[in-house]
Amino acid sequence: MNKIRQRLGRKLFFSYFIIILVGVVSLAITAEFHAPSALDRHMASMETVMGGNMGGMMSDLNENFRTAVNEILLVSAAIATVTAVLISSFVTRRIVSPVQQMKEASRRIADGRYDERVQVIGEDELADLAQSFNQMAHTLAQTEERRRQLIGDVAHELRTPLSSIKSVMEGLQDGVLPAEPATFLDVQHEVSRLQRLVHDLEELSRAEAGQIPLEREAVNPAAFIQAASERLRWQFEDKGVALRLELVDALPSVQVDAARMTQVMLNLLGNALQYTPSGGQVAVSAWTNANKVIITVQDTGIGISAEHLRHIFERFYRVDKSRSRAGGGSGIGLTISKHLVEMHGGRLIAASPGPNQGSSFTVTLPIAA
Ligand SMILES: Nc1ncnc2c1ncn2[C@@H]1O[C@H](COP(=O)(O)OP(=O)(O)OP(=O)(O)O)[C@@H](O)[C@H]1O
Ligand SMILES: [Mg+2]
Repeated sequence: MNKIRQRLGRKLFFSYFIIILVGVVSLAITAEFHAPSALDRHMASMETVMGGNMGGMMSDLNENFRTAVNEILLVSAAIATVTAVLISSFVTRRIVSPVQQMKEASRRIADGRYDERVQVIGEDELADLAQSFNQMAHTLAQTEERRRQLIGDVAHELRTPLSSIKSVMEGLQDGVLPAEPATFLDVQHEVSRLQRLVHDLEELSRAEAGQIPLEREAVNPAAFIQAASERLRWQFEDKGVALRLELVDALPSVQVDAARMTQVMLNLLGNALQYTPSGGQVAVSAWTNANKVIITVQDTGIGISAEHLRHIFERFYRVDKSRSRAGGGSGIGLTISKHLVEMHGGRLIAASPGPNQGSSFTVTLPIAA
């Protein structure tokens, strides 16, 4: 602290001191050259008025005047220097304390104490700096919190399939489980789930970091809606859920990465299929409204209550943990989809009148310019 203060204080003091010096010197020079001639003129006019020779008086006056001016200059220079010392040390303190505070806070943040904040005083540039500093600390704290939560979530997700594989293996070793295809199929099932989870996690981390490259081009929304529907059509038929497409003719193009938008549609349709019992129906409609293309996936499935609806886009969030897990879901699909839609400048929202009353997911995309 003292070092900074000393250095800054010295700089400030010298800048004041130089200004004082320049002032004193220019005053002295002006007095030296200008005063005698001014005095001469003045005396000359007095001579004519008073009528007489004032030569001796003249040089005396000049001498006295010069001494007086020099004395005055010396005293005022001394007073100004003392004032400069006082002001510079006051200003230094005002500037140095916040800087010092930030320096110490940043050191504590570097040690992992993300709750560190500095005081914002006044409205000057230093206050701006303090504000940006606090903003940075807040972002760091959030990132750290997300990191911690992600590790916890991932560990939790890995535990279930791993312990199930372990128990099958133990059963096989102890001879409790028969070494037959069905037993191995169980293990394979869990391994596939782990693989899918790892893949989804990779996607998620890239999406959250904004690192998914988009190959955007003008695309008719009907193209990716139909592509996704075709890919899932037989699964819908298999489960006995009707899939209807209601697209208005001549939809305007959107500037998107068609593969990524297909992925979003696959997620939404996959969910609609998974959470709609046999005999139900899923409708995909697309239309335009005020420079936007709106795509809605509406199902007649199990619905979502308001309290769950709020969290539906959070990663690893599943309404019914056991039901979704049985279907292989890990609660990441919607999180990734939302990121993907937002990367395209669009929005993804969910709605549901309540449990057992179906749900709808709406994607809004800006129309290509
Ligand atoms: N159409 C829907 N109807 C009712 N609930 C839904 C629907 N879509 C999603 N949900 C709920 O939202 C949760 C999160 O969906 P999300 O797609 O993110 O995960 P998931 O389907 O469980 O797993 P996955 O990561 O494999 O997609 C689901 O677990 C489910 O509870
Ligand atoms: Mg899903």
